Amino acid sequence: MDKFLIEGGQPLTGPAEVSGSKNAALPIMAAVLASDGPLELTAVPDLDDVHSLLGLLGTLGVHAEFPAENQLKLVVETTRPHVADYDLVRRMRASICVLGPLLARRGRACVSLPGGCNIGHRPIDLHLKGLAALGADIRVQQGYVVAEAERLRGNSVFLGGPFGSTVTGTCNIMTAAALAEGRTVIEAAACEPEVVDLGDCLNQMGARIQGLGTPRIEIEGVERLGAARHRVIPDRIEAATLLIAAAITGGQIDISPVRPDHLVAVCEILEQTGMRIEQLATETVSAPGQVTWRATAPDVIAPTSFTALPYPGVPTDIQAQLMALLCLADGISVVTDKVFPDRFLHAAELARLGARITRDGPTAMIHGVERLSGANVMAGDLRASAALVLAALAASGTSTVRRIYHLDRGYQRLDGKLNRLGADVIRTGDSRGPSPPHWDTGTTARPDHSGHRVAGGQGKNPRSRSS
Ligand code: UD1
Repeated sequence: MDKFLIEGGQPLTGPAEVSGSKNAALPIMAAVLASDGPLELTAVPDLDDVHSLLGLLGTLGVHAEFPAENQLKLVVETTRPHVADYDLVRRMRASICVLGPLLARRGRACVSLPGGCNIGHRPIDLHLKGLAALGADIRVQQGYVVAEAERLRGNSVFLGGPFGSTVTGTCNIMTAAALAEGRTVIEAAACEPEVVDLGDCLNQMGARIQGLGTPRIEIEGVERLGAARHRVIPDRIEAATLLIAAAITGGQIDISPVRPDHLVAVCEILEQTGMRIEQLATETVSAPGQVTWRATAPDVIAPTSFTALPYPGVPTDIQAQLMALLCLADGISVVTDKVFPDRFLHAAELARLGARITRDGPTAMIHGVERLSGANVMAGDLRASAALVLAALAASGTSTVRRIYHLDRGYQRLDGKLNRLGADVIRTGDSRGPSPPHWDTGTTARPDHSGHRVAGGQGKNPRSRSS
């Protein structure tokens, strides 16, 4: 299991590149199961969750080719398999995204329940309710969701739950409804940009989906979905993480590509802390809507308060990283998470670096301190690990951040990106567990019923700024 040794205190400066969105890429890749393919994708991030899903898709008859860095071609070789095995699904909750496409195209899906998660209870009742509304016969049997329907039928589906809508649930129902007979209306649909990106890709495959980005999505079912080429949107969570890295270290970065429309709430909070954000380059024809931002850290970090909410609110996936920044603010900040009210594992670890945080249910109060100091900390989930890395970048002395495999699930070589900006992050391993996989340009991977496609040295960074 790899860990990071971080020598804090270096202001981050220079150009930073944002990878394609993990949360957009995963449901889009799963959607190939609903189509006859092939599906050609660019800007696919090279990270563990993508390779985990490729392993699962391999067992479901999908052959993967890697024509170039961050490019992926998925070819459906057989539509017979319909079982998503526990050992593959348990690695990543997003594996549940295969349920809707498998059921709609193959008439049967048997998908392991994704199981527990460090950020709180994560049920899939809304996914199942939605598929049942489309006429599927659904039961939970020996830890698996077993769903059957000769052909799904369009219907009206309400996807609102106690904590808002569901992102992957909307992806599942929308993809399934694309092949249903007749018209489906999803009410209380998730409005996240990743859902819109999936919908755009499905429409290129031949689906007829309208209302993307609104809480009411209308889908006219079609008989077949075919080939598509699609560019995955930039990762707004990675972009926000890099912006916070500049803010917390007193630096200045030029970050691209960013979609300003996807980052409105995050930008608002960062500006409240005193960060300055200006647009440098305008969009190009090849990447409409994508621009470069120059972000300059505040001299003094002002305290601010926010609530993590469904889009277009501040994303829960950036709550932990913003909290790391507010630990160094000049005053008291209040942070509430209404999407995952138990998502505060990072608070205790931030306290090991000297942060002062008190928690009351879904709310944390952060008393800003003048400085953080290096310590041993342990990553508990993907975004919490990013928060710890950010805090360690600003702390005086050396920090060790353990269980970096959480970070590798969702960030493409974050250590390399930070070091190119002047950080001092060394990745070291020990004998337990494989290193993360890496993109193997020009190769192909046949469905082989294995988990990870390749074992290799992604993100290894032997550099120490002091050596
Ligand atoms: C997705 C993202 C994840 C992000 C989350 C919220 C991916 C791969 N993952 O996860 O990074 O943190 O959205 O923006 O896109 N809920 C129910 N019943 C359900 C489903 C969800 O009650 O059937 C609840 C959840 O417990 C949570 C809230 O609804 O409180 C939102 O969850 P959801 O949007 O489904 O999260 P994911 O799609 O799993």
